[in-house]
Amino acid sequence: MSSGRVVVVTGGNRGIGRAIAARFVAEGAKVAVTARSGEGPEGTLTVRADVTDAASINIAFSEIERELGPIEVVVANAGITKDTLLLRMSEDDFDSVVATNLGGAFRVVKRASKGMLKARWGRVILISSVVGLYGSAGQINYASSKSGLVGFARSLTRELGSRGITANVVAPGFIETDMTAALAEETQAEYKRSIPAGRFATADEVAGVVTWLASDDAAYISGAVIPVDGGLGMGH
Ligand SMILES: NC(=O)c1ccc[n+]([C@@H]2O[C@H](COP(=O)([O-])OP(=O)(O)OC[C@H]3O[C@@H](n4cnc5c(N)ncnc54)[C@H](OP(=O)(O)O)[C@@H]3O)[C@@H](O)[C@H]2O)c1
Repeated sequence: MSSGRVVVVTGGNRGIGRAIAARFVAEGAKVAVTARSGEGPEGTLTVRADVTDAASINIAFSEIERELGPIEVVVANAGITKDTLLLRMSEDDFDSVVATNLGGAFRVVKRASKGMLKARWGRVILISSVVGLYGSAGQINYASSKSGLVGFARSLTRELGSRGITANVVAPGFIETDMTAALAEETQAEYKRSIPAGRFATADEVAGVVTWLASDDAAYISGAVIPVDGGLGMGH
């Protein structure tokens, strides 16, 4: 349980981030979400931030610290896709996805780690994807950004592991959100046939794993990649 902990979830206004924020609120945590638009779920503090902009993160995190106290748990969830095949992928398609998904995690974790180091306690949870290790045609930018998070969490574990800080990756498969709703129906059906569980997951099924990683029960887990994919990526 994360009761009383100060938690920040990036991209907490919708999708998986919103479910994660709501679950932490239900556990009694003090929860802030960053959002470019909209609001986090009931019981959260919403602050404006764009994860591609370090200055906006700094302003947002300072506001969270003033309102809720030092940040103890950070969930780097904000992410985008710009899918297309390699030969059609522009420099901007590649750079913007990496800057948001991987660079965004770098900026928010760097800012959050200051307080964690002082407290000698912290939880860093990076939302990756099954395709980071499995690969996916048409997603060279996205898969690169998501596999980069694995090296990130493992390096952070080696840097800060002795200071009571853990860093883990959660790798969702297909989750029912705006991101998957945008896929054609036939594509969705094809994916479901390839998933051993035979279905997509709810965002809440990802949230439960994230809150568990932030709990005392997971204190000795760091540098791990936890799949939440119905068996899709087994061994990857
Ligand atoms: N859905 C899936 O099946 C699936 C599977 C594996 C992994 N994931 C990962 O899970 C995470 C959440 O995905 P989702 O499906 O919930 O996506 P989503 O519904 O599309 O929401 C994405 C969130 O990221 C925020 N965001 C995007 N760019 C941002 C930026 N530059 N600065 C700040 N916030 C930004 C969005 O904010 P705005 O609303 O303001 O745009 C939104 O809150 C992503 O990292 C995604 O890659 C999703």
